[in-house]
Amino acid sequence: KSFLYRLWKGDVSSKMLNPRLQKAMKDYLNTNKHGVRFKGKRNSRLTGDQLICELKDRVHVKTIDGKEAPFSALGWEKHVPQIPLGRLYPHGFGSCAVVMSAGAILNSSLGDEIDSHDAVLRFNSAPTRGYEKDVGNKTTVRIINSQILTNPNHHFIDSSLYKDVILVAWDPAPYSANLNVWYKKPDYNLFTPYVQHRRRNPNQLFYILHPKFIWQLWDIIQENTKEKIQPNPPSSGFIGILIMMSMCNEVHVYEYIPSVRQTDLCHYHELYYDAACTLGAYHPLLYEKLLVQRMNKGLQDDLYRKGKVILPGFRSVKC
Ligand code: C5P
Repeated sequence: KSFLYRLWKGDVSSKMLNPRLQKAMKDYLNTNKHGVRFKGKRNSRLTGDQLICELKDRVHVKTIDGKEAPFSALGWEKHVPQIPLGRLYPHGFGSCAVVMSAGAILNSSLGDEIDSHDAVLRFNSAPTRGYEKDVGNKTTVRIINSQILTNPNHHFIDSSLYKDVILVAWDPAPYSANLNVWYKKPDYNLFTPYVQHRRRNPNQLFYILHPKFIWQLWDIIQENTKEKIQPNPPSSGFIGILIMMSMCNEVHVYEYIPSVRQTDLCHYHELYYDAACTLGAYHPLLYEKLLVQRMNKGLQDDLYRKGKVILPGFRSVKC
């Protein structure tokens, strides 16, 4: 049976990846750049429904609110939006779309379906212009990593990609989630451009995710995986799925678990091929996908043909 077929059934392990990816995973385990010290137990074998309840119980979207050191002393309470992301939509959205940037979404004709949702989440520099037929054109929230804010190639300040949307930025912090250490030595210094952007665009909602939120997600992935996962933060894709499960009644995720269109083309908007984009090297992406596959409430046929998974929002489940 093919790897893709097994992934659709949730029946894969990292041993089935190509040797280059296995080597990369091993190197990340040995390096442990973020000082991960996992104290929980691995291999709790929850069903999909139990996993949804576990996430609902433990995952709370947390953004930097300026009340903790060192941000408090730096006057960040004035810099961050008044209402935190987790409390923005007390009644939530109805149905939401999470659009992954995978090359496999090309030629999907999913654009109209994606735009029919009440809110749409996209990632990093993924464009809609020129790709409307396959990815739609509506964007409600955009999650960006710290490289988007700091690498001049992305034109963060003037690109229309980052205007008229809710922005949510993140950066890999130490596992300890010590904000002082992180502030002094972020992976990429997002703090300066963040404050600058908030000053210039005070009416645009723009948040930085709290490292505690990100590592909490990592803990849950590791607790529910037999193998040792990469000691690096989950991918933006997984982070985005969890944010939307907190804000929406139902979440439709496109091309996270690959469809029959699976390809090594990393992004639909870029001519760059690497299987690591879909299966993970730095991020524990394969393991994230196995958990999402376990929670899928959608039709198997939608998974094959659309690469679509349907997840309930937390407010729609009774636990
Ligand atoms: O590459 P980037 O992080 O911008 O892509 C957004 C998210 O889409 C990733 O974090 C990952 O979860 C997902 N993705 C994927 N397969 C790809 C490319 C991206 O699952 N080929």
